[in-house]
Amino acid sequence: MTGDDPLEESEDGTPLPDGGAAGADGEGSKVPRADGGAVDDVALDPWGSSSVSDYRKLFEEFGIEEFDEVLEEVPHPHYLMRRGVIFGHRDYRPVAEAMREDEPAAVLSGFMPTGDPHIGHKLVFDEIIWHQQQGADAYGLIADLEAHAARGMSWEEIDEHARSYLLSLLALGFDPEEGTLYRQSENREVQDLAFELGAEANFSEFQSIYGFDGETDVSHMQSVVTQMADILYPQLEEPKPTVIPVGPDQDPHVRLARDLAERMRFFKVSKAYASFELEPDERALVVEFYERLEPAEFDDDQLRCTHVAEALAETPLADLETDADTLRSVLTKLEEAGMEPIRPRTRFFDRRATDEAFEALIDAIDGEKRVYENHVDAFDIDLAEAEELAREVEVDNGGYGFRPPSSIYHRFMTGLTGGKMSSSIPASHISLLDDPEEGYDKVKSATTGGRETAEEQREKGGKADECPVYELYAYLLSGDDDEFAKLVYDECVGGERLCGDCKEQAAELMREFLAEHQEKRAEAEELLEEAEIELESPRRR
Ligand code: TRP
Ligand code: SF4
Repeated sequence: MTGDDPLEESEDGTPLPDGGAAGADGEGSKVPRADGGAVDDVALDPWGSSSVSDYRKLFEEFGIEEFDEVLEEVPHPHYLMRRGVIFGHRDYRPVAEAMREDEPAAVLSGFMPTGDPHIGHKLVFDEIIWHQQQGADAYGLIADLEAHAARGMSWEEIDEHARSYLLSLLALGFDPEEGTLYRQSENREVQDLAFELGAEANFSEFQSIYGFDGETDVSHMQSVVTQMADILYPQLEEPKPTVIPVGPDQDPHVRLARDLAERMRFFKVSKAYASFELEPDERALVVEFYERLEPAEFDDDQLRCTHVAEALAETPLADLETDADTLRSVLTKLEEAGMEPIRPRTRFFDRRATDEAFEALIDAIDGEKRVYENHVDAFDIDLAEAEELAREVEVDNGGYGFRPPSSIYHRFMTGLTGGKMSSSIPASHISLLDDPEEGYDKVKSATTGGRETAEEQREKGGKADECPVYELYAYLLSGDDDEFAKLVYDECVGGERLCGDCKEQAAELMREFLAEHQEKRAEAEELLEEAEIELESPRRR
């Protein structure tokens, strides 16, 4: 797990589920999507060499949602969103809404300083910067502890690379006065939060999520809780929708962070029907009967637990959408509660609140309420109001009130030599530090989705969807200009564009981009000196 190629874990070749052509034929201004050659199977390993051969599996097996479905809710979406490079998300809606409504939101991502920043990192830099421009609090962090623990990087190497990442981030437009830059090792609050979050996670969980075993060093585990703290850090001052832009290899971290955020909460809010707890499938059964029974059928003025029990007992199991165990346990609970009325209510379950916080919550609930040992039931508050109230009381009483962090996922780029983009194969990727001429040469010698002969290409058109050069146009070289990206695509698949000229144009654009970026990096030196981030590790081994 140590010494892996940093590029391989995060930037590799991938095909598109929906194919680029979908955008090409007449979906308004939608730009055709870049596509790459197929590689391995789906495996989300933050330190392995993850690759994704089928993005659909990420939706089906991991529950990542399609970005297209939230696209409309995003104000002025970034071109990476419009072109499907950002293909997936978890819970991005609250972030989009906060940006629309000018409410607090945050964006944070982190970089392991294991090598030179390359065009894959640029995607993430751009995502952070774009969210910052939409008004989000922006955070860029250097994952130096992780690089040291999981990659065995020396502090000297870390310092050198960290500086370089930061220069590119600033050169691309990150505003250090508005935003926050830090390194994990220097951020005491992150360390403290990591320690607290660590109390909510245990080794078996790390085993099942990350495949850790008895050989895994403790610092590596610590770097995981540190990343959890990074992800929640923007919410230390106040809870707010926060998005973490990353590659899908980081999804296991996002899921764990969402879990931990929830486990830190004082109260759990849910819908309930009686004083006792019901499992979700039990609740479904009770709700069904609650809705269909009338108290008059039982000669009563209100529906009671015993009535539902009676009706349930008379219904054959085959007519119920449940199993025998669930039915039995519901019956027991209902019979024990006897004459207690069944009434819908909103429940605040006390998970880990202090006594004072629980008291404060009880006081804060308006209208009719019932107080039990570990929960309060409120009869005049709906679920959404209750969520708000629970968070408010938690924060007023010293809790964090974390919202589950959101994420967006970008596609991995295909290597210029086909297959994976890998930092161990210099010709396969373009570093932001590559000499502009070298960048030019790399593009000129890239593999393409072209046909055997010019003739064939004119006849059948090129395969832009499988072309790493088209990917460069879509992910980077076209910038915000959708029309240009679409033109390249249409000309390619229409057979009007031949690879020689196409690569020449791309190579020139790349040369220009690199020259300009490097100039801006030089200018950013000053900004970096002024920025509040430690550039030299006190540790030297
Ligand atoms: N683990 C990330 C990587 O391998 C780096 C990282 C550390 C990070 N903390 C983070 C990414 C918080 C996103 C959010 O590149
Ligand atoms: Fe790729 Fe351009 Fe050739 Fe089309 S014309 S296959 S986009 S290099």
